[in-house]
Amino acid sequence: MPLAVAPGLLLLLLLASGTRGALVVSVPASPVRAQPGSDLLLGCHFSVGGAVDMQALVVQWKLGDRLVAEFDEVLSYPRAGARLFLDELRVGNASLLLPRVGGADAGLYTCSVIHSPSRESQQLELRVEAPPRVSVSGTVVRAGELSNVTCSVSHFYPKSVIVTWLRDKQVVGGPETPHAQLGPDGLYSATSILQLVPSISLADANYSCQVQHVALGAPIQELFRLSVLSPPSLTLQTVVTPEGLGALHVRVSGYYPPNITVDWLRDGEILPSMESLPTREPDGSFTLHSGYILDGPEPDTRVTFTCRVQHPALSTPLGQSITWKETNVISPDRTPKKEPEPSPHNPLVWKSLCLATWVLLGVALGCFVYWSYHHISMSPIRAWECWPKGGVTVLLCGVEGRLRDTDSLTWRNLRLGKVLGPGQPGELSALKPEQHHVVTWRRRLRLGRQQLMSVLTVQTPCDEESFSCTFRPSTRDMQQRQITIPGVAAGGPPLDGDTSVF
Ligand SMILES: *[C@@H]1O[C@H](CO)[C@@H](O)[C@H](O)[C@H]1NC(C)=O
Ligand SMILES: *[C@@H]1O[C@H](CO)[C@@H](O)[C@H](O)[C@H]1NC(C)=O
Ligand SMILES: *[C@@H]1O[C@H](CO)[C@@H](O)[C@H](O)[C@H]1NC(C)=O
Ligand SMILES: *[C@@H]1O[C@H](CO)[C@@H](O)[C@H](O)[C@H]1NC(C)=O
Repeated sequence: MPLAVAPGLLLLLLLASGTRGALVVSVPASPVRAQPGSDLLLGCHFSVGGAVDMQALVVQWKLGDRLVAEFDEVLSYPRAGARLFLDELRVGNASLLLPRVGGADAGLYTCSVIHSPSRESQQLELRVEAPPRVSVSGTVVRAGELSNVTCSVSHFYPKSVIVTWLRDKQVVGGPETPHAQLGPDGLYSATSILQLVPSISLADANYSCQVQHVALGAPIQELFRLSVLSPPSLTLQTVVTPEGLGALHVRVSGYYPPNITVDWLRDGEILPSMESLPTREPDGSFTLHSGYILDGPEPDTRVTFTCRVQHPALSTPLGQSITWKETNVISPDRTPKKEPEPSPHNPLVWKSLCLATWVLLGVALGCFVYWSYHHISMSPIRAWECWPKGGVTVLLCGVEGRLRDTDSLTWRNLRLGKVLGPGQPGELSALKPEQHHVVTWRRRLRLGRQQLMSVLTVQTPCDEESFSCTFRPSTRDMQQRQITIPGVAAGGPPLDGDTSVF
């Protein structure tokens, strides 16, 4: 290969000419790069084709026109700290040591060698520079609050650096040349600040701090994302059905990121609650619903429940309490509300009215006692969804009359043909389909009557699903009520009530 042979030939030629006293000087490839503050050896080697005659030798290092170091019988160093090595000069090594190089050392150097009568020189360029390091801080920001994201550029030389902020490849800040400060290590550092008022939607954006510097071939980028925090807000509610069943409900909204823990507590004890899947709002925040269904009417007249929320945007958990007051509990006493009495002017008319009323009342009471003694009534199943989407449906079934203590209500999933027994409280918190929770309770009314209530809680099914509630007294006819709920996929909340009797 001719190309491979050429350097060999050249060397032979050089050696051959060397024997005739020719001088060859070589320096490393330009540019030579050095970090400020470092000790640098600038290489320069020469050959004279034989032994070096120190009497005939002169070596000069110049930076531009300025003399840096010289050997001419003796060594001299106009540049403080520079060094040549006498022992090395004897063997053709004219390398120059520059301790602690600084910006003033940068430039074009000439290494000149005179070995009388020959004279030869070579040039090399020294660049004193250090590429910047880039880091970004302050990326954890609160939605809606003026925030500073800082790009720190450090360890660079020379002083000038250009910073540009990008969001999804669009320029959102700069380009600017931030004020640079010289550190004790002879290197510069600078910071650039991007001010913004973040919204949750910016959490998905790809940001970068782009830095241009002479020591870099291409600009470097520090990529980052904003960790936007938005704290949750709570709306607490108690829900009481006319049947006296109580539920506590909370709407947790406006939070980001989606990581959240919602607990219900009573006297510091965590209660088994049910939670919907979070839904994403148009502004990017999340909303979820959580609820606790009381196991039957609350016997205590005043109980305080606390809803506790833990979220990355909160330094301490957020708690809100709600008191279950006496007024929330429907009294089992179902005496109808009295109409305001008319104020009669005529006492006789008043008396007759009064008498007539008593007679009517007596008859009515007689009828009522007779009817109620024999009649057992089962109301239609009522259904309501505790919260939308991925939610929970509560079905309530009730029967009233002269019941025995052994009488009971049975729930059945008609599609599966399966009896739904009482589930464990809390089972629903995992929100698995096919899971359910049944609570049944009994209230004594007047005249020996009783009310039997049962609540079936299921995860709102995806598709239409039918349930039945059966009352099967030992001696009397069975009564059954049935309801079909449309399911989430069908859309729309399940409608109240339904039909099919006996
Ligand atoms: C030239 O001299 C310097 C200083 O002593 C030394 O560090 C370097 O290795 C020498 N170069 C060669 C090629 O020997
Ligand atoms: C954000 O940076 C500006 C200067 O760019 C400064 O005046 C302001 O105090 C900083 N704000 C915060 C919250 O650090
Ligand atoms: C951000 O970058 C990731 C991959 O690096 C990409 O999947 C995503 O779509 C980007 N986001 C935007 C808003 O461009
Ligand atoms: C938030 O949730 C995501 C995914 O579910 C998880 O990777 C991340 O570690 C969570 N962050 C915190 C602070 O819990």
